[in-house]
Formats: sequence, C-alpha cells, structure tokens
Amino acid sequence: MSLEMAKKIAAYKAVDDHITDNLVVGIGSGSTIVYGVQRLAERVISENLNLICIPTSFQAKQLILDNGLILGELDRNPTIDVAIDGADECDVELNCIKGGGGCLLQEKIVASCAKTLIIVADHTKNSEYLTEKYKKIPIEVTPIAYIPIKNRIESLFGGDLKLRMGGSAKAGPIVTDNGNFILDWFFDGSPTTDFDGINREIMMIPGVVDTGLFIGMAKKAYFGMPDGSVIEKE
Ligand code: A5P
Repeated sequence: MSLEMAKKIAAYKAVDDHITDNLVVGIGSGSTIVYGVQRLAERVISENLNLICIPTSFQAKQLILDNGLILGELDRNPTIDVAIDGADECDVELNCIKGGGGCLLQEKIVASCAKTLIIVADHTKNSEYLTEKYKKIPIEVTPIAYIPIKNRIESLFGGDLKLRMGGSAKAGPIVTDNGNFILDWFFDGSPTTDFDGINREIMMIPGVVDTGLFIGMAKKAYFGMPDGSVIEKE
C-alpha cells in the first residue's frame, strides 16, 4: 500500500471513530488531513451532520471552504470538541513534532482549545522517541529575533538552527500565515531527552512565538500501515 493510501485509511478511521453530530471540529494542516476533510464532507452529506470547522492554517481554511463545510472561528467557538491533525513524528507517549508545513502556531492554538486532539499519519511518523526519525524541530520566531534565538538555542542545547527558505517557490525565507519566520532546529535527541523541559526553556526566549513540540497534547494517534491496517496508539 502506498504512503498516500496509508494516510487516507488513518484519517478516515479517525473521522469515523470521533466525529458525531453537533461538534466543533479543529481541522489540522498538511497532506494527511486532506483525507480527513474529504471523509468529513462525505459524512456531512450522507448523515446530515451539523459540524463547525475551525482551521489551523490558510490551507485548512481553504480545505473547509472547498469541501462545503461550515467555517467557524475561535472568537465564536473557543471550545473545540475534537481536533484532528497530522504530525511529523509521534512518540510512545503521543508527544509530537509538528510544523513541517509551517503551520505550528495555529495548530497549537487550536489543539490547546480542543477537548481531544487526534493525530492521523502514515506509519513512518510512528516513533519510539522524538527526533528518532524526524531530525528537526520547527520553531516559529519573530523575524527580527531569528539570529539571537538561533545563537541562544545552539549555545543552550547544541544542534544547528537553519532559517527555512522558500527555495524556488520564494526568494528569501518562508513567511508563516502569521507573518513570522521558521527556524528548523536540527537536533539529535535520545529516548531520555527531556523535550518538555527543553520546550519550556525555548518558550522563555524573547521572540520565540511557538515551537513544533506538542508535549502531552494528543489523546490518540492513528497510523496507516503498509498492509492496509490502522494502528491505534493512546
Ligand atoms: C503542518 O505545519 C504540520 O504540522 C503538519 O500537520 C505535519 O507536517 C503533518 O503533515 P503531513 O500530514 O503532510 O505529514
């Protein structure tokens, strides 16, 4: 089974297990959630579900609108029943690295407003510990502070921080949906690395807007497997 199919079966199962009528639903960002939104749209039509969808990015907002779902906002719907989102890596305790697509700030805000955060991913994202396979931690920063933040984190914890560039799609750095830069922190952790403590320290550095470390936030994860099964981790 292809990775795309693995993403699809995980997202479909998560939507089928957690979505019922009259919910406020957080919609994540990335390639896996595309299938989740597809399934939501199918079920809204076939079961006449009443759902309000809160986006985690410009991409998520477009997905909600393109699929004919009801777009909500945190001003009106500050309590989210279930948020469904992808991850770049998810450890045994369901701590995650997110932000590969640059949407980590709004993803974390929506996750923090959700009673339940569900992760959907293909099997390559399922790890024992953070940075086992995915070797970088995205950090969203205020543009004027990116050099001091880079220097501070490198001297505190080691590793190497690189400003995420637009490549051929954009000259200069990527600018997030919130007008910030992303520093990708290339860091090799181990099963004993205290990512919770590291995250707290990084969050104290002026100019850091948020990190891609989602510690203790997810309740359950669904991983699509090569054999067509879905593994559930909670
Ligand atoms: C967006 O910034 C990310 O946090 C994504 O949710 C994460 O990268 C997962 O993306 P895929 O579903 O494309 O793997």
